[in-house]
Amino acid sequence: MTAYAKVIGTGGYLPAEVKTNEHISQTVDTSDSWIFERTGIKSRRIAAQDETTSSMAEIAARQAIEMADIAPNEIDLIIVATGTPENVYPGAGCMLQHRLGIKTGVAFDIQAACSGSIFGLDMANQYIKSGAAKTVLVVGSEINSRITDWTDRGTCILFGDGAGAVLLQASDEPGVLSTHIHSDGRFEDLLKCPNPQASAEENLTGYISMKGNEVFKVAVNTLGRIVDETLAANDMQKTDIDWLVPHQANIRIITATAKKLKMSMDHVVVTLEDQGNTSSASVLLAFNQAVRDGRIQRGHVVLLEAFGAGFTWGSALIKY
Ligand code: COA
Repeated sequence: MTAYAKVIGTGGYLPAEVKTNEHISQTVDTSDSWIFERTGIKSRRIAAQDETTSSMAEIAARQAIEMADIAPNEIDLIIVATGTPENVYPGAGCMLQHRLGIKTGVAFDIQAACSGSIFGLDMANQYIKSGAAKTVLVVGSEINSRITDWTDRGTCILFGDGAGAVLLQASDEPGVLSTHIHSDGRFEDLLKCPNPQASAEENLTGYISMKGNEVFKVAVNTLGRIVDETLAANDMQKTDIDWLVPHQANIRIITATAKKLKMSMDHVVVTLEDQGNTSSASVLLAFNQAVRDGRIQRGHVVLLEAFGAGFTWGSALIKY
C-alpha cells in the first residue's frame, strides 16, 4: 500500500534584475545598513516586463521535472500557490499546465499568501495518500514587485520575485511525514493587498500594506507553536531535525524559530539576503537551493515552515 508522497524533484527560478538596498535608498528614506540590520536582506530580484507568474513557474517546474526524470504528462495534479497571478482567471495553474504541454489531469491555484507552498504541500500529500493522485507538482510563483508600493519604505524593502517547485510521487518510502496548516482571518488589517477592481471599497490601490512590527510579533509566536505541533505529531525530538527550511521574511524571525529548535544556524537554510521575501515561492526556492548544493541529502529530516497574510501558517516535515 502506498503510504508516502516522496520528493522526486525540485526547481527554482530567480529573474535576472537585481535591486539592491542602495537602489531603494535612492528613492525612499532608508539605508542599506538599516534594511540589513532589521531584516537580513541586501538585495532582491525583479521580474522583467515580459515575465509572468506562469512563465517563471514553468522554468522552476521544468527543472524539477528534469531532476525527477519523468515525462510532464505523468503529472496528474498541478497546484500553483500565488498571490500574484497574471489573471484573475484562468488561474496560473492552468496557464502552467498548458506551458508544460499537459492536457490531462487537473491544475488549479491556491491563495494562502506566504504560506501558499506549505498549503500546496499539504494538499499534495493528502491527494497522494488517498490515492487520488500519483504525481503532483507544487509551485510557488510570485511577482511581488508589481504589488509593491515603491514609495512605502515599510514594505518595499522586503519583497522580491521568484518561483520554486517541488515534484512529489506516490511511494512506499518516506516522504512527507506530516503537514500542519492553520489560518485565522482576524488579521486582515495587519497585512493586506486588496484587489481594487473586485473590492467594495472605492479609491483603493492594489498594493501591499502592513503593520510590520505587529506582524513580526505574531509570526515569531506562531512559528514557535508550529514547531512544537510538528514534533509532537511525529513523536520526535528537536535533535531529530536535520534542516530547518523557513519562509524567508526576516532573519530575526528565522533566528527565533531556530532558537526554539535549539538548532545552530548552520542547519538553517537562509536565502533572503539576496532574494528578499518571495512570498509563496520562498520555502521552495530555499529547499531547492539546499538540495542542489548538496546540503540536504537523501534520508535527512527537513522541517519547512511558513507564515503569511490571513494570517495563514503551517509546516511540512519531510524525510528527503
Ligand atoms: N528605513 C528606515 N527607517 C524605517 C524603515 C526603513 N525602511 N521602515 C520603517 N522605519 C522606521 C519607522 O518609521 C519607525 O520610525 P519611528 O520610530 O520614528 O516611528 C522605526 O523605523 C521603527 O519602525 P518599526 O516598524 O517598529 O521597525 P521594525 O524593527 O519592526 O522593522 C520591519 C520593520 C518591516 C523590517 C519588521 O517589522 C518586519 O520585518 N516585520 C515582519 C514583516 C513580515 O515578515 N511580513 C511578511 C510576513 S509573511
